[in-house]
Amino acid sequence: MLLLLPLGALQWPRRAAIVGAGTMGLGVAEAWLAAGVALTLNDATPESTQQAHQRLIDRVRGHIDAGLADAALLGRAEATLAQVAIADAVADADLVLEAVFDPHDVKAPVLHAIEAATTPDTIIASNTSSLPIDTLAALLSHPARLLGMHWFNPPEWTPGVELIPSRHTDPAHIARCATFLQAIGKRPVVVGSGPGFVANRIQVAMLREAMACVADGLATPAEVDEVVRACFGFRLPFFGPFQIADMAGLDVYAAVFATLERGLGERFATPELLRDMVAQGRYGTKGGQGFYSYSDAERDALLIERDKRYAALAELLAVLSR
Ligand SMILES: NC(=O)c1ccc[n+]([C@@H]2O[C@H](COP(=O)([O-])OP(=O)(O)OC[C@H]3O[C@@H](n4cnc5c(N)ncnc54)[C@H](O)[C@@H]3O)[C@@H](O)[C@H]2O)c1
Repeated sequence: MLLLLPLGALQWPRRAAIVGAGTMGLGVAEAWLAAGVALTLNDATPESTQQAHQRLIDRVRGHIDAGLADAALLGRAEATLAQVAIADAVADADLVLEAVFDPHDVKAPVLHAIEAATTPDTIIASNTSSLPIDTLAALLSHPARLLGMHWFNPPEWTPGVELIPSRHTDPAHIARCATFLQAIGKRPVVVGSGPGFVANRIQVAMLREAMACVADGLATPAEVDEVVRACFGFRLPFFGPFQIADMAGLDVYAAVFATLERGLGERFATPELLRDMVAQGRYGTKGGQGFYSYSDAERDALLIERDKRYAALAELLAVLSR
């Protein structure tokens, strides 16, 4: 169920605005309304702004009907202001999320309009999924207040949010946004401003290889999806790639890289970091040193904890697929 905080429960932000009320903007809007934040929406035209407000109400109603949100959320969605001009939408906001289409030439006038209508203590967050925040910061006169706040679809349910400072961002703004996101049950991670940040760089690399598997005739798209979900994807709610590699054995991974490089080329060359670690005898949990360090007791506890989590997930999946 969506966590419902009382109206005005949070010290900050009291008022927020979302510019670009599409797939992502409306999902974030629902999360912020549930957090008791007063909200204003804006979209590209008067018609699309009104439609977005109606879609927000319908979305909330759908979640209430499905038992996923408290009925009190509907009144908050209805009370959300829909403003046709960006200047009116953002005027009183402590926090503005820009969630319009990605091309730079669409984002630029929107960011200019937001900056022109807000005071320097308003934080401007961009939801771009790939544009480096440094390049967006270059558009602003006061770039200290711009940061990336990269939500994942569907935003009201996905816990992770990447927070991305540009080289000009005031660190206090990152801290403030991290505190806010944690207060509403999210899991913010501060990452650097490269193309695609961390999540999409990894996710897009996976999709590239998934397509290559299809193009090479190894499997159909449906078969690739099943392999990803049921094999290594099964572990991902609990462990990231470094933890998984530590548990499998870094020497094992180095051998796999070597085979893939021989068969598939340089893009699978063993990363220098992995080669160095294996050369130093750092094989992961089995030797006590890998990307993380483990005493014998910690390793044993980790492996049992892993198995408990996997057993619980297997049961949940069985229930959900009945
Ligand atoms: N779709 C995803 O899974 C996803 C995930 C994470 C981040 N993002 C990022 O979120 C942003 C929005 O993506 P989306 O998927 O919600 O797109 P979308 O097409 O669903 O929504 C974009 C909205 O912006 C509006 N818009 C366009 N120009 C505007 C303007 N000048 N002023 C106000 N509104 C304007 C559009 O009318 C539309 O409603 C992009 O930066 C994208 O990279 C998307």
